[in-house]
Amino acid sequence: MKMTPAAFRALKGKEPIPTLTASDTPTARLVDAAGIPLILVGDSLGMTVLGFDSTLSVTLDHMLHHTAAVARGVKNALVVADMPFMTYQVNDDEAVRNAGRFLQEAGADAVKLEGGAERAGLVKRLVQNGIPVMAHIGLTPQSVKELGYKVQGRGDAAAEKMKNDAKALAEAGAFAIVLEACPAPLAQAITESVPVPTIGIGAGAGCDGQILVLNDMLGIFTEFTPKFVKVYARLGEQMRQAFEQYAQDVRTRAFPAPEHTYKD
Ligand code: KIV
Repeated sequence: MKMTPAAFRALKGKEPIPTLTASDTPTARLVDAAGIPLILVGDSLGMTVLGFDSTLSVTLDHMLHHTAAVARGVKNALVVADMPFMTYQVNDDEAVRNAGRFLQEAGADAVKLEGGAERAGLVKRLVQNGIPVMAHIGLTPQSVKELGYKVQGRGDAAAEKMKNDAKALAEAGAFAIVLEACPAPLAQAITESVPVPTIGIGAGAGCDGQILVLNDMLGIFTEFTPKFVKVYARLGEQMRQAFEQYAQDVRTRAFPAPEHTYKD
């Protein structure tokens, strides 16, 4: 059955919720078939798929293109599209228009955006206009120039700020909140204090759910693997071996064999 933001929200307090990213149709189809209830088309695809060195280069067109590809492969999971840098920061009118394109043109079910209490007004407006929102606090990669890729929420003031951010975003109507790279006790305290699921990445086991970037967990993107990634398969290595075997087969005329060949 197709997952809705309300049904996803209702998963809080039940079993831990597994979620993943995806950026193309066949992969999204496999993730969906594995029963993963939410697929994020994360702007991390800028690095893992498009070869940029941060998410700052990812555009609205890139994200619409990949979101549409994912949506075409999914029957049941909730498809959440990441709003890229500079598509929601300038003003709320532009943000609503851009967010709407993900639902209208790309088949997304919801959008995700980064930021804390300062985004609460925008989240409220999106939700009031029928655009479900997943929030994202802690390490927010679109602020890399300001914050770096550092664990966030360390120290009393920073922890207090993250708690207030989560509360404000939940009150504004976000149906879930991503907590990225923050101390596990803080993530657990936030999880216990908000009525919506928290989805952790580098935030410990006390969150309501977890998310991993698919290319990281499959060992396809190996340029940099953060501490919080568990690598479930070494597909990058298997792919390299397959390419080498293929090259050797072609060079030695082992491929194509008679079974790959049309006769007359
Ligand atoms: O872009 C992304 O993949 C994300 C996840 C890390 C949550 O935002």
